[in-house]
Amino acid sequence: MQEKLQEILTEVREKAPALVTRADFEAFKATISGPNGALTQTMKEMGRVPKEEKPALGRLINEVKGQISSLFDAVIERLEAAELAERLGPAIDPTLPLPDPDRGILHPIAQVREEIVSLFRRIGFSVAEATEVETEHYCFDALNIPADHPARDMQDSYYLPSDLDVANVARHEQEKYLLRTHTSTVQIRTMLKESPPIRIIAPGRCFRRDTPDATHSANFHQVEGLYVDKDVTLLDLKATLDYFVKSIFGPSARTRLRPSFFPFTEPSFEMDFYSPNLGKLSNRWLEIMGCGMVDPEVFKSVGIDPQVYTGYAFGMGIERIAMILQGVDDIRYYYQNDVRFLRQFA
Ligand code: PHE
Repeated sequence: MQEKLQEILTEVREKAPALVTRADFEAFKATISGPNGALTQTMKEMGRVPKEEKPALGRLINEVKGQISSLFDAVIERLEAAELAERLGPAIDPTLPLPDPDRGILHPIAQVREEIVSLFRRIGFSVAEATEVETEHYCFDALNIPADHPARDMQDSYYLPSDLDVANVARHEQEKYLLRTHTSTVQIRTMLKESPPIRIIAPGRCFRRDTPDATHSANFHQVEGLYVDKDVTLLDLKATLDYFVKSIFGPSARTRLRPSFFPFTEPSFEMDFYSPNLGKLSNRWLEIMGCGMVDPEVFKSVGIDPQVYTGYAFGMGIERIAMILQGVDDIRYYYQNDVRFLRQFA
């Protein structure tokens, strides 16, 4: 019986490393430890062994069983590793050069953002930033937006839980946190940090509780502009926006300012533009941004003397401009990450 046990062990030692599929392994395992397997059969002979030989034989059986079971474990481990490697595919070397360096492109929204920013940089604006999480004070109060303004409603803005404390967003008092509904918050944060002359452009993500449709998204992007100095006038605003519109939509574009209202600018305007070569959108006035002269109440909230300084501000939706420039008629395409859409902007 000892010899048989040694033979079985030798067989397992020789054959186990050559097993490459689970099915082969299971079949082989059955020939050893299955109900009719060699090991099982040999152990049945134990009954016929003389009493005095039993203890030694018992120890040998246990040892052989132990060795066989570790050999089988090693096979399973090896098969599992191979299966995992199969699922993961070929090994990747992250240090290799890109096969096609032109394959990746900036997202179309980022492309337009970069274009807008670079046009304003060229005329002396620098980029400012603030957080996407804001507080009611910086999003509304400091911008002269009254307490009963609809944007403050829970239905219009995303408020954060009131027990939250956001370490990197300073509060004015104990007011609520929310996701900023516009980039005008950057006007306030910048004016509190810097003193005039201030000339900034602030691109960023904004959030509103809009029901998504072809022209609305709960998450969108704006570019804010702010210029504060002595003697800044409406003429400066008009000239700057004219330059911008002609640079981005072509020299034949015309602009107009239409009276409007924002709590943080006075007077306030919507800027429209008109272009003869915009395909379907040609030859009609298209609204592209809100703007106006900084309201004296806003200057007071940040400690700038409105008797000494004046300023203008504007804010535009990047998606809106991108859709016009790129001929996209549904805002939702921008967020679906469909490469067939994205590749068109390479
Ligand atoms: N914040 C305004 C909006 O989101 C846009 C705006 C910015 C208007 C600056 C005037 C001045 O609609």
